[in-house]
Amino acid sequence: MKKFDRVFKHYDNFMKLFDFNKMNEIKNILELRGDEVVVDIGGGTGNLGEYLSESCQVVYVLDESKGMLSKVKANTKVVPVLGDALYTTFDSSSVDVVTIVDVLHHIENQPRLIEEIYRILKEDGKLLILDFEKRHIKTKILRAFEYILFGKLYFRTREEVINLIINEFTITKFIDNKYYFIIMGEKNA
Ligand SMILES: C[S@@+](CC[C@H](N)C(=O)[O-])C[C@H]1O[C@@H](n2cnc3c(N)ncnc32)[C@H](O)[C@@H]1O
Repeated sequence: MKKFDRVFKHYDNFMKLFDFNKMNEIKNILELRGDEVVVDIGGGTGNLGEYLSESCQVVYVLDESKGMLSKVKANTKVVPVLGDALYTTFDSSSVDVVTIVDVLHHIENQPRLIEEIYRILKEDGKLLILDFEKRHIKTKILRAFEYILFGKLYFRTREEVINLIINEFTITKFIDNKYYFIIMGEKNA
């Protein structure tokens, strides 16, 4: 059983209560053309995938939790994929856009995750990361709450996340919203 299999039944309601819906902001930043293959890594219950699928060819919602994926409203444009983000089954250079939203701080081996994302992205492919600024008080409260549910977490500062991807990606957009940040990078040749 994976960590989110314990909470999947309540996850969407909790997120509504917490009022953390950044899907519109993410879609605006991505500026999708309509023909992209998108992989939403740690895509959970598929809300972002469903939302983005209106503006691209297909979204693969990759997650290690069967419970979270059981909530995905699957169709030809929103495809759930059970698997480990660190070792996916996507072909090399086959994906236009990867999103990792509220996921990075759950993953210990972050360099391996970036290596895998780099592998599956096409040349000029885009990576969008949304996560929470480690030093902010709201993140410290979230961390305490998540620690009770999930145990050890791996929050980073925005600078640490930039440093994590800087060798493989050119940063094209950086949105600093104090307690959370969004970083978009384009794959280096
Ligand atoms: C906080 S949830 C975020 C879900 C979704 N991205 C959202 O914004 O609602 C984190 C998700 O990452 C998934 N996850 C964590 N580590 C993973 C891994 N190594 N491989 C695949 N999924 C993972 C969890 O199962 C969970 O569904």
